[in-house]
Formats: sequence, C-alpha cells, structure tokens
Amino acid sequence: SDGAPAATKRVLLASPRGYCAGVDRAVVAVEKALEVHGAPVYVRKEIVHNRHVVTSLENKGAIFVNETDAVPEGAIVIFSAHGVSPAVREAADRRLLKTIDATCPLVTKVHKEAVRFADGDFDILLIGHTGHEEVEGTAGEAPEHIQIVNSPDDVDNIEVRDPDKVVWLSQTTLSVDETMETVRRLRQKFPNLQNPPSDDICYATQNRQVAVKKIAPEADLVIVVGSRNSSNSVRLVEVALEYGAQASYRVDFATEIDEAWLEGVNTVGVTSGASVPEILVQDVLAWLAERGYGQTEEVVTAHEDLMFSLPRELHRDIKAKA
Ligand code: F3S
Repeated sequence: SDGAPAATKRVLLASPRGYCAGVDRAVVAVEKALEVHGAPVYVRKEIVHNRHVVTSLENKGAIFVNETDAVPEGAIVIFSAHGVSPAVREAADRRLLKTIDATCPLVTKVHKEAVRFADGDFDILLIGHTGHEEVEGTAGEAPEHIQIVNSPDDVDNIEVRDPDKVVWLSQTTLSVDETMETVRRLRQKFPNLQNPPSDDICYATQNRQVAVKKIAPEADLVIVVGSRNSSNSVRLVEVALEYGAQASYRVDFATEIDEAWLEGVNTVGVTSGASVPEILVQDVLAWLAERGYGQTEEVVTAHEDLMFSLPRELHRDIKAKA
C-alpha cells in the first residue's frame, strides 16, 4: 500500500445498469426452451451479445449457429434479441424448423416502422452500424428503401430520390448524443426529414447513458462491464469519456482489469451494458474492494420495472407441457 487514506477511495455504481427487459426475456426464453424441449436447442447468433451468457447457455445445451442452414431439419431454433430479416425467417421455414422468436419487442417496433414507411415509398435513413445484427435485420425488412447511416460524417454521401419523402430511423443501442448530431446534419441536407413516430433508441440504452453521464464527471476511471460486440456497452465507454471520466475501459470479466489503471485513481465509476448479468458487476466490485475501493455509493438516475412476456410460441409449449 502507498499509505493513502482508504477513505478517499470510493466506487460510484451507476443505476440503472445491466439487464434490460429484452435481454432478460431472450435469456429466459432459451432456458425455458431447454427445459420444455430438452437439449439441444439451436440459437441463431449470440442470443445477446455477452460472452458469459453465451457460455452459460452452451453449458446447459444450447448450440449457437451463425445461420439456420446449420440447424438440422425439423429442429428448434431461437432467433436472438437483435431480430432477423424476413429472408432469415423464410430460410428457417424452408428447412421446416420450429422457430421461437426472442427478438426484443422494441426492435420489432422499429421493423414495423420500416415496413410502414417503405409501404409509403419513403427513403428510410437507418442510423446504425453496418454489420450489426440488428441493423441487418431491420434493413432486411425493406432493402430497396433503406440506407444505413453510420455516423454524422456519413451524411455527406447520402442521396435520396425525393428529399420531401425521407424519414430517419435508428438502431436501438446507439449514443443518443451522436445520433442527434447525425439527425441534425441530415436535416440540414433534407429540411423536410421526418422523425420516427417514437424513440427508436430504447429506454434501456438511454437510461444507462444518463446514469453514466452522472458519474463520469466525478470519476478518475470508469469501468464498463460488457462484451466487445455489445453496441450499447461500447457506447457507455464513449459517453463516459465525453462526460469527463479521466479514463474508461470495457471488460468482460473482473480478471481483465489491469492494476495499472488504478494508479492515482480515487473514484472509480462502474456500470454495465444491457446484456450483462449482475454477477459480473459484483465480481468487479469485489475485485475493487480487495484493492481498497470498498466504499460503494449507488447513483440512481431512474427506476426501471418494464418486463416483457415470453415469446407466444414458447408460452404455448410451456402450457402444453404443464
Ligand atoms: Fe431491447 Fe433495448 Fe434491451 S432494444 S434488448 S430493451 S437494449
């Protein structure tokens, strides 16, 4: 120990953090499907973007595949929380797979908006990250009408057929501030740009960003628990840095924290992405406590109590079994 008084070291724990209603539902859907149907149950893509969750479900008998053509004919396949395009549903139907759709209802909502505006022959500018599963799914609803806008700078390259018939939609897990900047640039270019009928960035993404904004200015270091491919977790690191954290890192597990990050650090902020089980955050808090950061203050900026019911088709199977 360097002899610094322990009382100056503390942790600010952001709340809300961790599991959102859509992730909780998707993970429980896989667990219930395993209970009702027995292993193996196939899952297309990672059910949610978290390594710990995926490994735990694999240990219980879930088999993760990249595409439905890797699933034996007639078997059960679960679609992940990020949603799928109509082409994926059709491919599953052709193989006579029994599907359970764990798409988050808030992603489905964006799909429906896309279909509606495409039916109205709008050009749809979908703000989001090319290659992210959610964006592939949403764009697949109306590929002829949708262009993906990755960042504010992307706006310069966007061309539309009729500047008076343009709407923007977005991925659910983006940075609110960056998205608003992209929208501002789009509106400069297309003054009659229409807004989505309701927020596409979901409540959980927004709430976790508000909470990290509150702790970041006081934090010398912000640790975000979340996986590399988790969009909302990666955004939390960016937001923490923008709002004054001296440093911010993302880790999957407490064991990935580098002791060197703690040098000269008094206040550590801790939060986690929407796909992260609380146990991983508790591991981080324990790791910090062992190093003198045992005093934890929870900073609460919102209370969440949203819950989604299980996918209908799974609910039916559970009832049939009972
Ligand atoms: Fe749904 Fe938002 Fe979670 S879209 S899966 S509630 S991060």
